[in-house]
This record gives sequence, C-alpha cells and structure tokens, in this order.
Amino acid sequence: MISLIGIGKSYGGKELFADVNFRIEAGDRVGMVGPNGVGKTTISRIIAREEEADRGEVSRPRGSRIGYLSQDVKTFRDQPLIEFVTSGRPDLVGAHRELERLERLVAERHDEGTQLAYAHALDHFQQLGGYSAEAEAARILSGLGFREGDYERMLHTFSGGWIMRAALARLLFQKPDLLILDEPTNHLDIPAREAVEDALADFEGTLLVVSHDRYFLDKVVTRVVEVRERKLISYPGNFTEFFFTRQALMTRTSGRAGRRRKDRRRPARTAKPGNKLAALEKQIADAEGKKLELERRVADAFTRRDLDKGRRASRQLEQLSKELDALYERWMNQSG
Ligand SMILES: Nc1ncnc2c1ncn2[C@@H]1O[C@H](COP(=O)(O)OP(=O)(O)OP(=O)(O)O)[C@@H](O)[C@H]1O
Ligand SMILES: [Mg+2]
Repeated sequence: MISLIGIGKSYGGKELFADVNFRIEAGDRVGMVGPNGVGKTTISRIIAREEEADRGEVSRPRGSRIGYLSQDVKTFRDQPLIEFVTSGRPDLVGAHRELERLERLVAERHDEGTQLAYAHALDHFQQLGGYSAEAEAARILSGLGFREGDYERMLHTFSGGWIMRAALARLLFQKPDLLILDEPTNHLDIPAREAVEDALADFEGTLLVVSHDRYFLDKVVTRVVEVRERKLISYPGNFTEFFFTRQALMTRTSGRAGRRRKDRRRPARTAKPGNKLAALEKQIADAEGKKLELERRVADAFTRRDLDKGRRASRQLEQLSKELDALYERWMNQSG
C-alpha cells in the first residue's frame, strides 16, 4: 500500500530520522507511539505527503487517496456543518455547481446543445453519487454523535472537540484509501472518544493513527509502530501486546532474566536497582494486579447488591486507572 524507503529527515541540525524503511499494507490498522517530540507528527506528515523528507522516497499506488487529520485543530472556512463535510469531495461540489449552472441555462434557452449538456451534467452528478451524498454525510455525522439539528449550524458555533469530529467526518466522507490521524483523541471526553472508535471500526480502508491513548489504541489498531532511535519499529498486536512484547525484549536485551513469561499480562519482575524503566514497569505490573483485584471486588459487591461497597471500590478503581494512565504515559516517554 505504502512504502518508506531510506527516509531521512533533520530539523535545524537535529536528525529525527535516518534511513527509515517501513511498509504499511492495505487494510493494516497501525498505531504510532513514541515519546513527545520524537518525530511522530513529522513522519506521519511525510507519509501523508504533507511534508518532504530530506532523503529517500515514499511510494504508494498511483491514484490512491490519503486523508490526513492534523494534531492541531485547524481553522476552517465558516460554513454549515453538512456543507463542510460534503465539501471534502471537490469533484462532487464541482459537478453540482455545473449542474446548477446548466439548470439555469436550460430554463433560459431551449436549444438542443444546452439540453444535451444538461443531461450530461446530470448523468455525471448521479454517477458520482451526488444524490446520496447528503444522506451519506448525515450517516457519518450521526455516527460521530451529531444530531440532525446540527447539520445546518455554522462551524464556528461548535467547540474544538466537535470541530475535530466534523473534520474527521469530512475525511471519512472522502473514503480515503489511507487515513492518517495525528492524536485524534486529544481533548476528547469519553463519549466522544467512543464515537471516534466506532466510526473508525466502520472504516474499511488502511489506518495509521498517532496516539498516546492506550485504551483507544487497544480498540482501534492491530499493529503498533514505535518511533525510536531515528527508526520505526513494528510490533504485531494492539497497545497492550506491544507493551508486554517490548518489555520482554528490553528485559532480554539488558541481560536480565529473559525467560518468556507464561502470564503475559504480568511484566517480568526483574527490576535491577537503579534501573528507572524497570522500576516503572514493576509499578505498572503491581498496579495492573491491583486493578484486576479491584475489578473483581466491584463485580462481587454489585452481584451481592452491596451498593455502598460497590461504589467505594468503583471510586478506587477509577483512581487507580488514572494512576495507571499516568504510569503508562511516563513509560512511553521514557522507553527509548
Ligand atoms: N517545521 C519544523 N521546524 C523546525 N523544527 C521542527 C519542525 N517540525 C518539528 N520540528 C522539531 O522536530 C521534533 C519532532 O517534532 P514532531 O512534532 O514530529 O514530534 P512528535 O513526536 O509529533 O511530538 P508530540 O508527541 O509532542 O506531538 C521536535 O523537536 C520539533 O521541535
Ligand atoms: Mg505530534
């Protein structure tokens, strides 16, 4: 689907990438992870052809379409939501404009040539799916949590999170072969994040998503690529699988007990004193163990209809999940 061959890129004397070779196959759902500032945005922009590499080449099938959602919410021309979404297909917009022009002309003139041109424009518009375009846009918008009453609202009346969802709707409407999303769940609340997850579950093309959000990655991707030491390193599976594979590899390569663990949900507890990363991994393993225990306690309490106890354990679980998020965030920013 897309290949990076010998890609190199530097900024102001700092080399971000050196001789990167990487392939994304059609139908892949890839999550990209790595510490802040390591170059995730840069390499995803190079893949999207939004940015040029200094060396190497990006090859992809002729005519393939790439949709790119940037990390910062851009400012868009103010227009009604539904128009914004359908404007993602300029061919459709052009065909519609031409149809309207000829419609007016047919009403004024009655010559055969105009009528023929009109019939031709109508045919073209239909072939592009012009008459079902608004219904399709509405279907995508409703999947992302918009209501019918929103469709004619001007873009500027929506908050940042909703504008991001509108931008995603516009991209999905384009039906790209490869969809590249840079930190799409930043600043989204849980219902919004779930709406995005659902929309992406329905997306049939190839997906590359940069994210620090491990819940989101676990739901959405089937392969993880880590940006590290100026390269891209690929791991099969979702984020959780990546974490444990990566952790096992690190343990082995750093010369400590490299035995494969039977229980892959529990990282090896071979922390060498003074090894910050290993200590962090042990903390994560302990917290994951405690989380399992709390989950059992919550389920137990609610089964026995002990609501007080259930709520208490739920609150603890929530707190612990937040701590785990912070630990994983630190781990992601230290690994490498
Ligand atoms: N246009 C640019 N000009 C100069 N330096 C740049 C430019 N774009 C990125 N950089 C630098 O390149 C490095 C990588 O930036 P990039 O945005 O790709 O990282 P990132 O992994 O996406 O970070 P984050 O996790 O914060 O989004 C940073 O040090 C950044 O300052
Ligand atoms: Mg970035």
